[in-house]
Amino acid sequence: MKWIHAVRSVIAGGAILAVANLAQAQGVIKLGLIGEFSGPFAQYGQQIYGGMKTYMKLHGDTVAGKKIEVIQKDVGGPAPDVAKRLAQELVTRDKVDFLVGFGLTPNALAVAPIATEAKVPMVIMNAATSIITTKSPYIVRVSMTLPQITQPIAFWAAKNGVKRVYTVVADYGPGIDAEGAFIKAFKDGGGEIVGSVRTPLQNPEYAPFIQRVKDAKPDAIFLFLPAGEQGIAFMKGYKERGLAEAGIKLLATGDITDDGVLEAMGDPTLGLITSFHYSAAHDSPENKAFVKAYGEVNGTKLRPNFMAVGGYDGMAAIYEALKKTGGSTDGEKVVAAMKGLKLVSPRGPIMIDPDTRDVVQTIYIRKVEKTSGGLYNIEFEKLPDQKDPGK
Ligand code: PHB
Repeated sequence: MKWIHAVRSVIAGGAILAVANLAQAQGVIKLGLIGEFSGPFAQYGQQIYGGMKTYMKLHGDTVAGKKIEVIQKDVGGPAPDVAKRLAQELVTRDKVDFLVGFGLTPNALAVAPIATEAKVPMVIMNAATSIITTKSPYIVRVSMTLPQITQPIAFWAAKNGVKRVYTVVADYGPGIDAEGAFIKAFKDGGGEIVGSVRTPLQNPEYAPFIQRVKDAKPDAIFLFLPAGEQGIAFMKGYKERGLAEAGIKLLATGDITDDGVLEAMGDPTLGLITSFHYSAAHDSPENKAFVKAYGEVNGTKLRPNFMAVGGYDGMAAIYEALKKTGGSTDGEKVVAAMKGLKLVSPRGPIMIDPDTRDVVQTIYIRKVEKTSGGLYNIEFEKLPDQKDPGK
């Protein structure tokens, strides 16, 4: 008889434990963060997570009565297989309610089918190849698309006396999108493309490409490279080979003058004109509060860039959606709640397009200037309500 009693109490104990687990599970919302936290793209993860933490500092770690918990995973670089494995583990073992992060396109694309299969909302905080949001109905993107940020600089160039352009882009999704969008808009504006080249994503050596461009004597280069180290290397080559002296201007998306590396690139960037959705110098109370809080949470060594804002706004979208669903993390309900969502971001007003689940936002034309606080992208023209022109 005794052992029956023992078994009974074990079962009862187990049941109590299960109930306790359930209560805990109901009180916690888990975000699986897949980011690049090591290797040459390590700033991507750092910036995105830094922005997420900034949001949580300003808005607390509870929403709709539930505690937000972030599970951080390092994908290490452009590594689709690793991203996929991490997403699988997060969904099946950790039972996350959201998949978030994604600095690089190949990592986002690899995870899209898992979001679909698990019906888990996937919030893209940077990866910017246009096609990504079409790969799962559970994807919402708060960052940008390359065609969206490229078209304005192409029109600006055509309107401002630039006639012949050589395009240089990184040879993967966002670069190919940028190249296509620039060529179309620049030609539509009356410009001529004199050459196009694609550079490798991993370990690029820019000198031969830069020489080739110099020999073609264009009025300007249009450049897209993923933010960070690559821009530093390119700017070095551009200066060393004397392109500015040869009268060849540099036009680019703002990835190149990323706030996180602008100081490291130094004075060769002065006067550089770019189009983009975020500058740390953006003049608004929301941005001032964001930059200040970012420094308090992450230290002031690293200036927040557009990826930090992506992390911040991704959290804002999640919090606002959860408020609308009353804390339900049901994938369909969350995505429905995010569609049409309007936010006042540190970059300016944004909206999640209910049709594409991409972000509609103001794109700014900016120029690098030296201010009392160092080098900054100073906005001088703005184009409100920009969508991806290809969608
Ligand atoms: C991307 O891989 O989608 C990506 C990465 C860095 C950027 C822009 C896009 O600056």
